[in-house]
Amino acid sequence: EKGALEFEERPDTLEAIDKAIHGCRKCPIGALDNHAVMGEGPQDASLMIVGEQPGDQEDQAGRPFVGPAGQLLDVHLEKAGIDRRAAYVTNAVKHFKYVQRGKRRLHQNPGAKEIDTCRWWIESERAIVKPKLVLAMGASAARGLLGKTVSISKVRGSPIPLEDGSELWVTAHPSYLLRLDGPAREEQARLFDADLAAVRERLEDL
Ligand code: URA
Repeated sequence: EKGALEFEERPDTLEAIDKAIHGCRKCPIGALDNHAVMGEGPQDASLMIVGEQPGDQEDQAGRPFVGPAGQLLDVHLEKAGIDRRAAYVTNAVKHFKYVQRGKRRLHQNPGAKEIDTCRWWIESERAIVKPKLVLAMGASAARGLLGKTVSISKVRGSPIPLEDGSELWVTAHPSYLLRLDGPAREEQARLFDADLAAVRERLEDL
């Protein structure tokens, strides 16, 4: 497995990570007009939920998953019986990557190199929180955990062991659902719900 870049001494508290990510310029995203968004949730959470990167609203609020994708996530978590407040919620990439179009900032996918650079921070968060189960939503999140790209349709539904003994579950990103409608949306919502239900069940055994 390809590890994260070694920056300096690994921060050993969440507060230290929070401080450090704000000044991080290890990739070009940090130099945009944005703020780093730290993960949130209990330091001893069994479940870590990982998204791609903060969006426009998360960047302004300074909190992960508060915008449209976060609201949809909340609905599905509740349906699955997963308490979001008991989970540590974070992102593979800490800064919002966008292109300015008039007044709007349009989301851009982070590149593989940017995700791999930012692994330093998610690995640092994992080393402190030590979740038993990590749920990666979307391909960028999965890459942030694995250091390589996987196909969501191929890996969803069965856990991937991580080197620290925890397990990684991969599912789609809620933003993907937001971009669909009609039967396609229903089908993807059903798969997303099934993945979350499997995670809820698995957490009871861990
Ligand atoms: N999408 C993400 O991946 N993360 C967030 O925090 C918000 C939207």
